[in-house]
Amino acid sequence: MQPYQEFLAEILIDEAALQRRIAELGAEISLDYQGRDLILICILRGGMVFLVDLMRRITIPHQVDFMAVASYGSGARQSAGHVRLSLDLQTDIRGKDVLLVEDIVDSGNTIAYVLEFLQTRQPRSLKVCALLDKEERRETPVPIHYRGFRIPNKFVFGYGLDLDEYYRNLPFVGVVDLDKYKPET
Ligand code: IMP
Ligand code: MG
Repeated sequence: MQPYQEFLAEILIDEAALQRRIAELGAEISLDYQGRDLILICILRGGMVFLVDLMRRITIPHQVDFMAVASYGSGARQSAGHVRLSLDLQTDIRGKDVLLVEDIVDSGNTIAYVLEFLQTRQPRSLKVCALLDKEERRETPVPIHYRGFRIPNKFVFGYGLDLDEYYRNLPFVGVVDLDKYKPET
C-alpha cells in the first residue's frame, strides 16, 4: 500500500488523461508560436512537472527559465494572500514571447502579481498556460490562454502540486481527504 492511499479521496485526473491533454496543449502552442521567440517561464515549484512534460510536446525552438514567488498572509493549504518575488529570471525577456507555465490557478493572486511584474520588462507578448483551473475560488480575474482542466473546489496534490511539500512526484492529480490526512512531521 502506498503511503498516500489512506488520504487519497479520489484520483481526479489520471496519468493517461494528463498526458493526452498535455500533448494537445503542446501541439496548439507549437502552432500558435511558429516563427516567434518563445520562452516558457515556469513558476516554481508547482509548475515544474508540467513544464518538463509540456516542453517535450512543443516542437518549435524555445527557451525555458524559472522564477519563484513567496506568498504570505495565508496558511500552508490556502492560496496566496500577498505575493512577492523570491527568485528572479536569469533571462532578459524584452521583446520575447513569454508563456507562463503554472500548475494551478486558484485565487488568481499569484498569476496576477507575476503578470504585472513581467509586463514591466516589456516582453513582445505575455500569456498564461495553466494545467488546472479552480475557477470557483477566483478572487482576482486573470486570463488563462491555455488551460488543461477545470477542476472543482477541492484540495489536490500530485503531478507537481504538493501536500505540505511532499508528493509532487505522483503521476496523477489526486484529491486529498483532509479528515484523514496527517502531515509527515
Ligand atoms: P493562487 O495565487 O491562489 O491562484 O494560488 C496559486 C498557488 O497556490 C498555486 O500555484 C499552488 O502552488 C497553490 N495551490 C492552490 N490550490 C492548490 C491545491 O489544491 N493543491 C496544491 N497547491 C495549490
Ligand atoms: Mg504554483
